[in-house]
Amino acid sequence: MRQNRERYLIMETVLSGIRPTGNLHIGNYFGAVKNFIKMQEEHNCFFFIADFHSLTTHPIPGDLHGHVKTVLAEYLATGLDPEKATIYVQSDVPEIPEMYLLFNMNAYIGELERTTTFKEKIRKQPDNVNAGLLTYPVLMATDILIHKANKVPVGKDQEQNLEMARKFAKRFNHMYNTDLFPEPSAYNFGEELVKIPGLDGSGKMGKSEGNAIYLVDAPKEIEKKVMRAVTDSGPTAKNQDKPEAIQNLFTLLKVVSSTDTYNYFDEKYNNCEIRYGDLKKQLTKDIIAFTNPFREKILEISANDAYLHKVVTQGAEKARESASKTLKEVRNVIGFRKF
Ligand code: TRP
Repeated sequence: MRQNRERYLIMETVLSGIRPTGNLHIGNYFGAVKNFIKMQEEHNCFFFIADFHSLTTHPIPGDLHGHVKTVLAEYLATGLDPEKATIYVQSDVPEIPEMYLLFNMNAYIGELERTTTFKEKIRKQPDNVNAGLLTYPVLMATDILIHKANKVPVGKDQEQNLEMARKFAKRFNHMYNTDLFPEPSAYNFGEELVKIPGLDGSGKMGKSEGNAIYLVDAPKEIEKKVMRAVTDSGPTAKNQDKPEAIQNLFTLLKVVSSTDTYNYFDEKYNNCEIRYGDLKKQLTKDIIAFTNPFREKILEISANDAYLHKVVTQGAEKARESASKTLKEVRNVIGFRKF
């Protein structure tokens, strides 16, 4: 009993926001989702769909609605568990916009203009440089600090935004002479983080790169994608280093196939006996065996609106409980009406 309590007390809070942009692919799975699933066992986890953030690109309502549902269904299908983690939709928590307003008062235009994500966005969407883009890091800091999260699993591209969250936490603490906010740090997966390459010869798998295999892809679709993958005319000498396109196929084989299968093709390659057609056939088979259970689960959950509704309603309730507690402390420290 006492031990349990202590365990709870030292349990760190982990939080991550997911932008509702399309389907999960194998790269997302091995690069992030798999670790989320592990983390929910050991930490107090908050995972949410960042639909406020997605408004900076002005999605049409039907798309926004569809994407939020897809992301939710796919994360649940891969194993995020609403009994273990708090899973919610950002716009279901009205404490977030309130705290965002408060944090905006302590965020300076100069520092916001200097963030790389902002500069990148103005380059990408010069016709829509809205104030929400500028204050994107303030909203993200709010997401994190409102639950007093200690650890935030983020990719390289989000490190600067996390740094801003630390800055806002420190600034607030200093300004009001309090220790209300812990400083959040990056959750480091170290060796466990696997970068999954695309099938087009170079670079990593990505939605915008158009080289992704989605968990929800039908077997035929996967076959088409793998059979199209870039190769070369084969090794010309024994034990040659693999060029990037070939190495990429082996990297995929490593995550979805058995060690025996991997070793078999590796040996064939090293002996200059490899037939890429065989490798691709095997890879297709193993990818389908890996993704198909997910695909079935995704289709099942997507068709169950009642379940999805229950998950986010329960998630919002838990998230609001935690958020309103922090907001109350913040309002008190700031000096709002007490009479
Ligand atoms: N900005 C993150 C992204 O683009 C999404 C996000 C929003 C987030 N709020 C967050 C991530 C809070 C971690 C913590 O991927």
